[in-house]
Amino acid sequence: MKAASAWPIYRRLLRYARPYIGVFLIGVLGMLLFSATQSALAYLVKRFFNGAFVVRDPKILWEIPLGVVVLFALRGIGDYVANYYPSWVGRQVVKGLRRDVFSHYLRLPTAYLDRQQSGHLLSKLTNNIELVAGAATTAAIALIGDSLTLIGLLAYLFYLNWRLALFCVAAAPVIGWLMQIANRSFRRYSTRIQNSMGDITRVAKEAIDAHRLIKIFNAEDHQTERFERVNELNRASNMKLIRAKAISNPVVQVIAAIALASVLYVSIRQVFLHDMRVDEFIGFLTALMLIPESLRSLVNVGGPLQQGVAAGQSVFELLDQPTEGTGGTRPISRARGEIEFRNVSFTYGSEKGPVLHDVSFHVRPGETVAIVGRSGSGKTTLVGLVPRFYDVQQGQVLLDGVDVREYRLHDLRAQVSLVSQDVVLFNDTIRNNIAFNAIEKTDAEVEAAARAANVMEFVALQPHGFDTLLNDRGQNISGGQRQRISIARALLKDSPVLILDEATAALDNESERRVQQELSLLMEGRTTLVIAHRLSTVEGADRIIVLDEGRIVETGNHRGLLARGGLYAALHGMQFNA
Ligand SMILES: Nc1ncnc2c1ncn2[C@@H]1O[C@H](COP(=O)(O)OP(=O)(O)OP(=O)(O)O)[C@@H](O)[C@H]1O
Ligand SMILES: [Mg+2]
Repeated sequence: MKAASAWPIYRRLLRYARPYIGVFLIGVLGMLLFSATQSALAYLVKRFFNGAFVVRDPKILWEIPLGVVVLFALRGIGDYVANYYPSWVGRQVVKGLRRDVFSHYLRLPTAYLDRQQSGHLLSKLTNNIELVAGAATTAAIALIGDSLTLIGLLAYLFYLNWRLALFCVAAAPVIGWLMQIANRSFRRYSTRIQNSMGDITRVAKEAIDAHRLIKIFNAEDHQTERFERVNELNRASNMKLIRAKAISNPVVQVIAAIALASVLYVSIRQVFLHDMRVDEFIGFLTALMLIPESLRSLVNVGGPLQQGVAAGQSVFELLDQPTEGTGGTRPISRARGEIEFRNVSFTYGSEKGPVLHDVSFHVRPGETVAIVGRSGSGKTTLVGLVPRFYDVQQGQVLLDGVDVREYRLHDLRAQVSLVSQDVVLFNDTIRNNIAFNAIEKTDAEVEAAARAANVMEFVALQPHGFDTLLNDRGQNISGGQRQRISIARALLKDSPVLILDEATAALDNESERRVQQELSLLMEGRTTLVIAHRLSTVEGADRIIVLDEGRIVETGNHRGLLARGGLYAALHGMQFNA
């Protein structure tokens, strides 16, 4: 990345800081105060030498010590203000950026999220944004503050002896060139570090999530090795950055020393020629000696600044990912629940072949349709098209006779309750897990849903009943209990279309039958799509669609399909003869 492309990123970062420009300006005032005290220090030294050795003024006995105290008090205030207020702005930027990135995640299309590594997404939200704050504040403080100090000191040098000052300034291009080289490597290494932080988060997260798997496979060493690789990469990248930073310091110092030496040579000659008074000489020297310190922190700012720019780039890349939008314009409050697939073909990515081929079927409002087929035949994919997790490439999916793409996305999704194959629970109480995003529901409604899903019987056994806290992924309850909670959650949503994707697969036969009974009551008046491998659970469906390799191969009711002796009969035979 060239310097030219760093500026737009930094400008975009600054846009987040713009609302707080007033606060930042207070910080700049602090920097001004601080840098003024630096030049004042050189002046004080000059005055001291003038009073002590040139004019022998007894006033300086009080003036100088008092001056020192006042100067350092002012300097302290300046330092505080220059750090506190810009940092305050920095934290606001972090918060604003985090909020934007988080809410952007939620609106990204399923297809995009499928391709991402969650560790990297998390690391952007935590690590990268933190680095961005570094650029927005520490770097800005140093950049503005030290530039001001340098300007102040230079101005003083020019005031004292412009010819000599001009001579000093000649060293500036060399230092500028060095800074550029340093910055370039800072940024390259920073990007590498951030990517490796993403890898660390990803590997650690996977390992923590899969702790049981790791135990049963005795895979601790294997995982440790995997972690060690990304850990080492992170260390190595960090070391490169540290080296670049560590080298840039002494190099700048040596260059500054060479410059100083030539200045000393010229100025000492001037003193000998009586062009310069001793106090002027000392004042000049003091101001000159203060320059390398500011210069150094100005060079060092390259690190955090480039880190921030690299981090900002990856964060903005994410923010620039198009969201799934708000869908069509057509509002719908409550659908009748008629669903139609019209010649639907669907493929996930270009590299894979189509997952659904020319699928057409029609579901009347209130009908219960089962979708069966071998694993990988496309059942989950098919039902996911209704709430538009993905959009079809060919054909149409219609709800109440209207293409789903025409509805407002929010309205469309409000029509669909889904119990998905993999249960998702939140680190919250059982009640809040059932009443997810449904605070308006009364306790009675939540309990009714819980009863229908057979949740009540085990809630009663929990120490805190409904208020029992589930840990994330719900590892403190059984698989069947998790599934029942997710059924209750879908039932509470009370929408005209209900999709059950292997919703009762984790239940024992008896619980399943009970849940089925309750469900069949709830299915009344709702269009229901049921996916199940256990064919006994779909016998009662109005219609059964048999899917094979993304094509509908048979449709009919249980008896009809058995009599037909096709794929359904074969699948059925395997389950019941076993
Ligand atoms: N997010 C995805 N990205 C790419 N391909 C996918 C994705 N999800 C599923 N597939 C592929 O699409 C095909 C159909 O998958 P799908 O999940 O619809 O099958 P299924 O019938 O629900 O299977 P199961 O009974 O095992 O749940 C499979 O070949 C699968 O590999
Ligand atoms: Mg599936």
